[in-house]
Amino acid sequence: DTVYLNGDYVAKEQAKISVLDRGFLFADGVYEVIPVYRSKPFRADQHLARLFDSLAQINLLSPYTKTQWLQIIEQVIQCNLSEHGEHQSIYLQVTRGIDSKRQHAITVPLAATVLVMASKLDSAQGTLNGIKATLLEDIRWHHCNIKSIALLANTLLVNQAQAKGFDEAILHRQQELTEGASSNVFLVKQGKIFTPPKSQYILGGITRDLIIELCSDAGLEVYQQSIHIEELSAADEIWICSSTREISPIVAIDDKIIGSGDVGPVTKRIAASLQAFKS
Ligand code: PDD
Repeated sequence: DTVYLNGDYVAKEQAKISVLDRGFLFADGVYEVIPVYRSKPFRADQHLARLFDSLAQINLLSPYTKTQWLQIIEQVIQCNLSEHGEHQSIYLQVTRGIDSKRQHAITVPLAATVLVMASKLDSAQGTLNGIKATLLEDIRWHHCNIKSIALLANTLLVNQAQAKGFDEAILHRQQELTEGASSNVFLVKQGKIFTPPKSQYILGGITRDLIIELCSDAGLEVYQQSIHIEELSAADEIWICSSTREISPIVAIDDKIIGSGDVGPVTKRIAASLQAFKS
């Protein structure tokens, strides 16, 4: 594994950061996960636009231009082709950098710490097996639209779900559906598509945006509107989506079977459109 760390391409084992990095001490940073198909970053423009947005929201200047980011990403992909193959997942994170001591307040501008690494992407392609989710209260903060590296709530929630034998946690805030612990959620009801609107309570997924386009192109009506959790059990089909999981059908939520309990026709159709779009 070769990773990019602050200007250098080094073996993952050699990549070290300071204990005074604000990312380590305060989770003071943001990240992106970009899927790579046939050696090409997928929807890179959209991911970088969201990165710039996340950085702006935490008052951090991007250390690089879009062109520079793309060059680094390409280089990391190339360095990892023999190890991970041509389908990869790029993880990049920017933290506020190394301070002189642990202190909450930022007293002087610091040089950002940048890490870009790759892993093998086990493509969800064809693996349209239904998964089970559990409904949990969304215990996160009010800025979920920032792709923050502070993921303690998300990791606690998914671990709570998995400890109970579920694959993903689906979250609600005062009975309103938000998203998965690391995914967005879609419902199908009588041939119409529903997903919660973008807000400070969800991370606006790049996959979510693409799926909305694909649904519209397929002539389906898409409603981005608030969804009460009671509507989950009444849905014909549900799926979650993300850059790494693409479309994952949800066939049960807690003890409630969704629709027929099998992967539904609309899910299959949109998953097929997504595969076609990727190639
Ligand atoms: N997570 N919502 C949350 C909370 C997420 O963490 C993610 C993705 C998404 C989907 O976004 P996108 O379609 O842009 O991947 C929604 C990434 C994959 C992760 O943390 O690994």
